[in-house]
Amino acid sequence: SRRYRIAVIPGDGIGKEVVPEGVRVLRAAADAFGIGLDLAEYDFASAEYWQRHGTMLPDGWFEELKDRDALFLGAVGWPDTVPDHVSLWGSLLQFRRRFDQYANVRPVRLMPGVTSPLAGRGPGDIDFYVVRENTEGEYSAIGGRMFEGTERETVVQETVMTRTGVDRILRYAFELARRRERASLTSATKSNGISQTMPYWDERVAAMAAEYPDVAVDQYHIDILTAHFVLHPERFDVVVASNLFGDILSDLGPACAGTIGIAPSANIDPERRYPSLFEPVHGSAPDIAGKGIANPVGQIWSASMMLDHLGEPEAAAAVLRAVEEVLAGDRSALTPDLGGEGTTASLGAAVAAAVKGAA
Ligand code: NAD
Ligand code: IPM
Ligand code: MN
Repeated sequence: SRRYRIAVIPGDGIGKEVVPEGVRVLRAAADAFGIGLDLAEYDFASAEYWQRHGTMLPDGWFEELKDRDALFLGAVGWPDTVPDHVSLWGSLLQFRRRFDQYANVRPVRLMPGVTSPLAGRGPGDIDFYVVRENTEGEYSAIGGRMFEGTERETVVQETVMTRTGVDRILRYAFELARRRERASLTSATKSNGISQTMPYWDERVAAMAAEYPDVAVDQYHIDILTAHFVLHPERFDVVVASNLFGDILSDLGPACAGTIGIAPSANIDPERRYPSLFEPVHGSAPDIAGKGIANPVGQIWSASMMLDHLGEPEAAAAVLRAVEEVLAGDRSALTPDLGGEGTTASLGAAVAAAVKGAA
């Protein structure tokens, strides 16, 4: 049935401000397209929850969430209250791992009405995907401290790459590239300096490339790749990267496309054994939290990706069109990061109205 059970998790800081706007637009799209929504909001995965309970998530969180159709998350992290590695390993990273959301899909697009900080770029010039490995790699729980408090104090953190883990993210990226007009895939590597995991990554890219003769493949070391993002963003179509490299590239890409405030992400379990998670790329932004000026478009675009994943491509497209229409329209509704004087709520309301108008 076209009724979806969605867990809404606002989290911290501006997560609590942009999620209501994402929900507002989601409801507008649901009304317009005859979709039933069953939204359950949770206060866990937040610093306030941690202060009250000493943990980020309740014991039964996995059972509670595992049968939802999707998770809609704001942002987690309030370092004044709880160290970031504690709050994030206690929540978001648990979701990604336990629900095996191995593909983190992050579109980077220069939208009409948005100004790129790069000279001479207009809408259409930047349009690619960062496909980030989301369950292993440099983000590992393996490591530790030795000789603590002595001159020999040593800290080790292992990078883990498994054949299954590498191959499945590469396959996801190749399949995405194959469906796109340019059918081009760029691999982010660092096999000159990182002598075990990254040569392995390259090897698996080469093996996979042999299965996709229709996809043009190239690879760059991550250092020069960041330079190419700034100098020649129009070159890229699908960029596939390890967990950490993908994290870095997916902030850099949106910055080149005007603002990190509009960038969405889909943390997907492509096998659909578990719910996928949709969230903006940005964090809880303590520097602007509470001011009502956070850009809600990253959250709203994430709602569009969620609708698409749920099997509602028309509603998804309508939300994205509404975003484009509002961004290209009257600047007064836009938030300060887009050069406007609007608020989180005024921008969210404008997009919701455009969704209703389009249906
Ligand atoms: P951040 O993305 O929160 O903020 C970086 C900068 O971008 C800030 O100047 C902020 O004001 C601005 N910004 C971010 N989102 C914006 C928006 N929607 N509109 C306008 N401006 C926006 O990154 P940070 O400062 O490194 O992290 C802050 C906290 O968020 C930390 O606790 C971090 O661990 C956490 N974090 C969480 C997630 C997540 O939950 N997915 C992602 C990134 C960071
Ligand atoms: C992101 C964030 C997270 C990550 C942090 C908050 C752990 O930066 O979703 O990009 O590094 O994956
Ligand atoms: Mn990040």
